[in-house]
Parts: sequence; C-alpha cells; structure tokens
Amino acid sequence: MPELDNPVLHAIRERRSVRRYTEEPVSADEVRAMLEAARWAPSGKNNQPWRFLAIMGGDARQQALAELTRSGSAVQAAKALIVVALDKSAMYHQIKDHQSCGAAMQNILLAAHSLGLGAVWLGEIVSRERQVFEALSLDPDAYELAAVAAIGRPSRQGSGQRKPLADLLIEPL
Ligand SMILES: Cc1cc2nc3c(=O)[nH]c(=O)nc-3n(C[C@H](O)[C@H](O)[C@H](O)COP(=O)(O)O)c2cc1C
Repeated sequence: MPELDNPVLHAIRERRSVRRYTEEPVSADEVRAMLEAARWAPSGKNNQPWRFLAIMGGDARQQALAELTRSGSAVQAAKALIVVALDKSAMYHQIKDHQSCGAAMQNILLAAHSLGLGAVWLGEIVSRERQVFEALSLDPDAYELAAVAAIGRPSRQGSGQRKPLADLLIEPL
C-alpha cells in the first residue's frame, strides 16, 4: 500500500493563491526553478507549446501589465511575473494546447509554493491580449496569451476553499 500522504500531495493540498507579497525580492535562480518545473509539464504529443517570459520586479513592463488587469495590485506588488504564451507554430489543437499551458502554470504555482514563495494564476488578463502583447513587444501573429503568474514572498496567505469530494463525484466511489 503506497503512502497516502507525501510531500507532493501535501504541497498540492496546501498551495493557495497568494496576492500579497513582502518587499523581499525573488531571485533569478528561483524563477529558473519555476520555469524548470513548468517545462516538465505534460503536453499533447509532447509538443511543449508553451513559451515563457520572465519579468523581474521593478521592470517597466510590470506597471504596464498592472494596468491591464483587475488583479493590478498583485501584479504591482509581485517580485516576479511569468507570462505564459502559446507558440502558435507549435500548436496542434486549441483545447489541448491550452490545457498543456494550464499544466505548466500549475507546475509554476506548485514550484513557487515548494520554494516558500506565493503565486497567483492571472487569467482575466487574457481578455486584454492585444494590449498585453503591445506592452511586452510580443508578436500577436506568433503567440497566444495563456496566463500570467504573479509571484513573491507571501505577506498574507490565501484562503481558497474546496467543495467536498462527495459533491464532485458523478458516481459514488
Ligand atoms: C484559469 C484561472 C484564472 C484565474 N484568474 C485569476 C485572476 O485573473 N485574478 C486572480 O486574482 N486570481 C485568478 N485565479 C486564481 C483563482 O481565483 C483561485 O485559484 C481560486 O479562487 C481558488 O483559490 P486557491 O488557488 O487559493 O485555492 C485564476 C485561476 C485559474 C485556474
């Protein structure tokens, strides 16, 4: 019988979205560790359609992004941002390629959590894809915006709750 509690399951359960951060910086090595986790996500046909743009705190592009989302306060306070985009030339299936980017995002969030960082997945910002790409000088013919992760050292823990498993089962287990 395998152990039903272990560091991976614990991290999955304990990770919460964090939107408030201290002034302490996030290092380039920490960002690299999160990107490493992201690139090991699964993808359909192993096509790895994700591309990443890491923006460190204080970069002029941070403020530009903050103005393009309702989650601007998290973007402003973040000490690193990871923009996850789809490389259109690598895509083979809209839904599956977006799912793959979602898996990469989840790895970023879990890696952040494992490093003692806090992060939040910003999805609402995709409604301003055109302006985001302008602010980042990214070619809209080459990329689709998947999501942005805002990352820092937590100054306030998240508190997201979940429905009981029984409510989610289509058929009782
Ligand atoms: C696809 C997606 C889009 C999201 N977009 C935003 C967003 O734009 N702003 C935000 O503050 N949180 C966003 N979130 C975070 C969710 O609000 C959060 O995951 C949810 O409330 C559960 O809380 P938890 O992550 O702390 O468990 C998004 C999450 C996902 C998966």
